[in-house]
Formats: sequence, C-alpha cells, structure tokens
Amino acid sequence: MDLPIHPSKGLRGQFSVPGDKSISHRAVLFGALAEGETTIEGLSNAADVRSTISCIEALGVETESGGARFIIHGKGPRGFRKSQSSLNAGNSGTTMRLLSGILSGQRFDSVIVGDSSLSRRPMKRIIEPLKRMGANIAATPEFTAPIQISSTYGLKPIDYELNPPSAQVKSAVLLAGLYADGTTRVIENVPTRDHTERMLGLTVKPFGNKHAIEIRGGQKVLPRKFVVPGDISAATFLIAAAALVPNSEITIKNVGLNATRSSVLNCFRSMNVALQMANVHEEGGEPCGDIVVATSDISNGVEVRGDIVPLVIDEIPMLAVTSMFADSVFTLRDATELRYKESDRIASIVQNMRKLGIDIEEYPDGFAFQGKKDLIGTALESYGDHRIAMAFGVAGLRIPGISIRGAECVDISFPGFWNAIQA
Ligand code: S3P
Repeated sequence: MDLPIHPSKGLRGQFSVPGDKSISHRAVLFGALAEGETTIEGLSNAADVRSTISCIEALGVETESGGARFIIHGKGPRGFRKSQSSLNAGNSGTTMRLLSGILSGQRFDSVIVGDSSLSRRPMKRIIEPLKRMGANIAATPEFTAPIQISSTYGLKPIDYELNPPSAQVKSAVLLAGLYADGTTRVIENVPTRDHTERMLGLTVKPFGNKHAIEIRGGQKVLPRKFVVPGDISAATFLIAAAALVPNSEITIKNVGLNATRSSVLNCFRSMNVALQMANVHEEGGEPCGDIVVATSDISNGVEVRGDIVPLVIDEIPMLAVTSMFADSVFTLRDATELRYKESDRIASIVQNMRKLGIDIEEYPDGFAFQGKKDLIGTALESYGDHRIAMAFGVAGLRIPGISIRGAECVDISFPGFWNAIQA
C-alpha cells in the first residue's frame, strides 16, 4: 500500500497506544510456562504479539480472549507438545529468540521460521550460548532462520556475558536456564530493558562494575495477572507528531515508564519538546503514567552514542526524523545493532533522508546530519519496517507531498496508527 500522508492542522485530545509489545510477548510466554490460569489485561493487538500467541497455541497451550482480558491456560515448562508444523514467528525477533530459549529445553524437536526480514536477522547470538548450555540447535550456514531445535535431556547452567547488549539474548538464555541443572547467570555490562527479570521476579546482583541476573533451573513460573501498560515505543511516534505539528496538544494515556525504556523522553526534552507527565503510578510492577505533549519549537542537537543506545534502540528512527526539523546537528554512533533490526535502519533512514533533501553522512555505526527548513515532499520507502514507516509518516504531517510505500507494515506494532495521526 502506497499511502499519501496529508499535512495535519493539529493533533488534539486523548490518545492511547497498544499495550507494550515487549511486555506482551513475555506475558504470553510466561503464562504458557506457568501451570494454571494467567490473565493478561491490556495485551497488545500487534501482529508480532499474535505471532507469539499462535506459536504457543501450536505447542498445545489453550488461550481465550474475552473483552479486555486474555487468558492463557498454562501447561508448565514440561507441558508443551510437539507442534505438527513449523512454528511461525512472522516478523518478530523477540518471538523467535525467546521461544528458542524455551524450546532448547524440550524433549521434542521444533523448527521456527520467520518472514523474509526475520530470516535475514542474526541468530548466532542465541545459538552460541544455547549450544554452550547443551542445546541441539542449528540454523543456516549464515546462522539465520529457520532454527532447528532437536530434543534434549537436560541443559547445563552457564555464566554468560552479553555482547552486544541485547534484552532478547538475555531473555533467551534465562529461559533456557529454567531447564538447566543449577543456576544460570547472565552478566550485563550495559543495561537493556529489564522486563524479563521483573516479570519473573529474578535475582539481580552486582557483579564487579556490571550486574548479573540469575535463574534457578526447575524454578516455578507462577500463574498470575499481568497488567500491560501502553507501549512507550509506540507513544514516541505520537509525541513527535504532536511536537512537530502546529496547533497540537495531546495526552497519551497510561504509557509504561520503565527506566530502561524511557530515556527517549530525556532525548525529546533535550530537543526542547514540551512534554509533561501526569498520573504517574505503578501497575503490575511497572511504572506508568500519562504523557502530555504540545507543539514545540524543536531546537538543540542530539548526540546518541555509547551506553544510551540500547535504551533508545527502537526510538532512534523517530528521534532522528524529529531532528530533521531542528536547525542543529543530530549524531548517532555506536549503533551498529540498528543494521540488524526489521530493516537495516541506518541505511533505511539515510536513504529516505537523502530523498527529503537532507545532507547526511553515513558511518558503519550511525550517521550525522544537520536539520533544515526546506525539506522536499516525495515518495518514501518503509522497507517493510514498521518503525521506518511510522517515523517518516510523521514527517508527512509537516511536509506536503510525502507518501509511504508499504505503509501497512505498521500493523506489526501499532495497528490503527494511520487513523490515529490522520483523523
Ligand atoms: C526487545 C529488545 C530489543 C528491541 C526489540 C524488542 C525485547 O532488541 O529492539 O524491539 O522485547 O526484548 P535487542 O534486545 O535485540 O536489542
């Protein structure tokens, strides 16, 4: 779908975003691992989360959706049954990587496939530690999907130091640790999102100047009620839209504000975006609140580099696109990881910005450019990547003549996004 975006006269009123995608994936998987009934409120309706649900259903777990609640009749870590066909993770790296951790400990064989984008993404990062634990796991010679996991009779606990920092790898190793004979430790040098450790109530200990997250093999995952806050990564697109479009003032209700996810708000503030928090409280072990944002005079350059990169990894496309409207320099470094997301996001951003008339310099690990006033409205590519589509879609609310090719890919994380910003 080639979607023309029309400049907006102003965004006003209350907005909501889908439930946090990272927490939703985990709530579904942890509900399947628990024995008994897990209830999830606020589960994301994104296509990625539907991929996780369909995988656990194929493994014999029953689910029910009724109104705002989603129920999982968990079978316990040993209660899954072999799937009759390949498990399809679709576009979702989180599904493929976390599920690989769980399936590495099973006494049956599994195959996990993905779409063309996911089938290009690196899987060596999970295969290597899972093999060290004794998993029978293999992929293509390039270490990409399909992932083949053969039956195993027990895993060994390991100490594993993450490199590069990745919450998906951390979670895959910890979930395999449930099936290991002893305590598995993941050592994190640079913090990444900590939903797995919070939701499973894992012990986190200092480890020199790093920290270690521990899981005991055989540890029970208890059925419970999860309340999923709104997705701050989805809210990022609405914050930028309201900040950039004249005559805007919006409130985004009930957004997750976990410290490992909310650095994007500091970046927006340093660009002079007028944003405030209201009703901040804790729900289901996660801080959340409303975000109020109004039209802002975007100024000040931003430099995103070093340890902050993993904390804003999904927000970089929107932060960069917002900076195109500032008369200052945006610099991104130390972000090679961005090349391994749903698209090569460094290349996707550079190519689209060049079409808009931005003079941007590309580096192996990032890019730098100076924002400007006279941008050229033209047809842009989504590269099949939901966050690229939404970030450049927001630019179209300010610049006449922008259209987004493959705009339907926003369903991966934010169904209804185009209606929300164009209503
Ligand atoms: C995620 C972790 C991040 C992020 C992804 C979701 C998660 O990936 O980019 O969208 O839910 O754990 P990495 O951990 O690989 O950086």
